[in-house]
Amino acid sequence: MMFKRVHKWLSLAVFIQLFIWLGSGFLLGKLDMDKAAGRDTLVRNNPTSFARFYENTDDNSGAVNTPFVSVKSLLKNYPMTSEIELSRLFDQVIYKLKINAGQHDYQASHYKLVDAISGELIDLSAEELAPTDKKLIYQIARFSYKDSAFGSSQTQNPNLSADQSEKMSVAGLLYPPIEDLPRERNAVWQINVDDVSQTSIYIRAQTGDVIAHVNDETRWRDLLLMLHFMDYAEEGSFNNWFIKIFAVMTLLLSGTGAWGLYRLFSDGRIKITWFDRNKMLLVHSEKLPKAVTLSASANSSILDALSASNIEIRSICGGGGLCGTCKFKGEPELLITAADRERLTPDELALGYRLACQHVMKEVSNIELNQH
Ligand code: FES
Repeated sequence: MMFKRVHKWLSLAVFIQLFIWLGSGFLLGKLDMDKAAGRDTLVRNNPTSFARFYENTDDNSGAVNTPFVSVKSLLKNYPMTSEIELSRLFDQVIYKLKINAGQHDYQASHYKLVDAISGELIDLSAEELAPTDKKLIYQIARFSYKDSAFGSSQTQNPNLSADQSEKMSVAGLLYPPIEDLPRERNAVWQINVDDVSQTSIYIRAQTGDVIAHVNDETRWRDLLLMLHFMDYAEEGSFNNWFIKIFAVMTLLLSGTGAWGLYRLFSDGRIKITWFDRNKMLLVHSEKLPKAVTLSASANSSILDALSASNIEIRSICGGGGLCGTCKFKGEPELLITAADRERLTPDELALGYRLACQHVMKEVSNIELNQH
């Protein structure tokens, strides 16, 4: 009985999640993935060339002159640096110094940004930014946003028209956990755009990189992915605890199902027969004026056969062997199943009472129904 109950609740849980999988998978298939990835508004900058900053000296030594701060002096000022990248921050050439960082960009990291020409430190991770740095954040965001998304045909321009500028605002510096970016472990600037999709532009404060454009479609996709991958704790991964527990539950469901099947075979309630003949059954009941003979498939349950012939018999659990209400009286030698033993008293069993949902037509030829 224990197995049956466990199997029943497991199958309910697995069915609900299967339904969620199917529903979320179907809706994911209907999504516009370009829009959900923010690609309809996002402008990716082309790789920057710094060749124009380099010039050969005239002394044929092969040496080059650049206006950039030397790497040597950078390392002297920032000895913890593990990697240096010459990069661009909107219209400034900068050095991006990696102090430490994880394998993925979203992992907690430590960078320093240095103006490659003046050597000044640029810190975009302070909550109260200087007006020039705040403008820089705004310009980076603005430059990553397609003009066409504003319904304008002008070329990419960091300066918005008066009408457009009202639609974009620097909302603030956010720290993890960030609702729109569940995996992100660094502080980010959020810039909100009042467009039809309520786009939010996210810029990593340590590096000034545009991480993502998140819009309503992205949020809907993330909700569906969360349901689809059972990422209910929003770990941002399908290798989460819920899915592991669910895998164990599915294994248990299969195990209890296989055990139940084995019990049905060993109790003789299921037999593989090539020809399923009909069997006659004589039924005596206080509620019938006289005995009735019914005919049904030899392998159908007695409960099903009685119901199909409109002969009244109680059944609260619908044939699950749980309520013990579908009693009939047959021969005392009739096989006793585990459900019979669980639901009926030893006296009843000795008298030949059994559960109609637990026995099949071919086991009996004559039964009595005297349920009260
Ligand atoms: S119908 Fe409930 S035990 Fe048979």
